Amino acid sequence: MTTLTIENHLAAGHLETALRADVLNGLTATPKRLKPAWFYDARGSELFEEITRLPEYYPTRAEREILTDHAGEIAALTGAQTLVELGSGSSDKTRLLLAAMRSAGTLRRYVPVDVSESALVGAAHALRADHPGLAVHAVVADFGVHLGVLPRGGRRLVAFLGSTIGNLVPEERAAFLHDLYGTLSPGDALLLGTDLVKDPAVLVAAYDDAAGVTARFNANVLSVLNRELGADFDPAAFAHHALWDPEREWIEMRLRSLRQQSVKLPEVDLVVGFSEGEELRTEISAKFRPEGVRAELAAGGFDQQRWWTDRAGRFGLSLSFRR
Ligand code: AVJ
Repeated sequence: MTTLTIENHLAAGHLETALRADVLNGLTATPKRLKPAWFYDARGSELFEEITRLPEYYPTRAEREILTDHAGEIAALTGAQTLVELGSGSSDKTRLLLAAMRSAGTLRRYVPVDVSESALVGAAHALRADHPGLAVHAVVADFGVHLGVLPRGGRRLVAFLGSTIGNLVPEERAAFLHDLYGTLSPGDALLLGTDLVKDPAVLVAAYDDAAGVTARFNANVLSVLNRELGADFDPAAFAHHALWDPEREWIEMRLRSLRQQSVKLPEVDLVVGFSEGEELRTEISAKFRPEGVRAELAAGGFDQQRWWTDRAGRFGLSLSFRR
């Protein structure tokens, strides 16, 4: 029997409060922006799963290839008893790591951390068949805020996969690594997935697929605001735009207003005007260089011990140890 415990660290209303604050700040700023966290309601999570299967969206497949080849080495090098996974969306990749840790004879506990309790329960149930007897200690938390609540005891391997770290700007990444350093013990490990800088045409295509799935994913954030804040966005009045910023080396996703329009958000007491062609930034997805990843890790107190890429060199996975 899989034993499942769920620990909830989100105060009632935490997400609602965070959404209101971000909408108030971001939609009154110039240029307008929203945090990518708001994409992921049930529909947005489904659309993201669909994105990971698109021919243009290589990161998921590339990272899986690396894990397939190196999970055994990761288990052996870390000797970890606990796998902590930040964001529990990727259960097939988790499975590769858990299987390797089990073969190595060290696996005791799986700690998925996510803001969504239903995603956590889903992740725990998905692992039941393969890992009967595994202790799953699910933590409902916003890991941008509450890294300090990770359960202690035993050697831990923290997996932060999918290049989700690329949603943060450099200062936020430094703060994240600093907080993670503070909650880990010397010898605990960090497995970090980072998508790499490459031909901009390949990058842009990954965020602007021919089937239009990413466009629907992007526009879905407007439906989230309509439902959660009683807003009256017309998603059809905005166009999907993905672009490469060569200075900052990140992809931006934006929604471009197709006409002059004004949108009401009664629950935050806001009316927002858009001029024709005005853009709202909904996501940054930073792309990395190997030496940059190593330097950011080192600045955060982590020594990189291994760096792997997929055979095509599109995606990097690094294993580091807390100093
Ligand atoms: C899950 C944040 C890593 O940035 O590539 C996919 C999300 N956005 N297509 C990414 C995403 C558009 C994805 N991350």
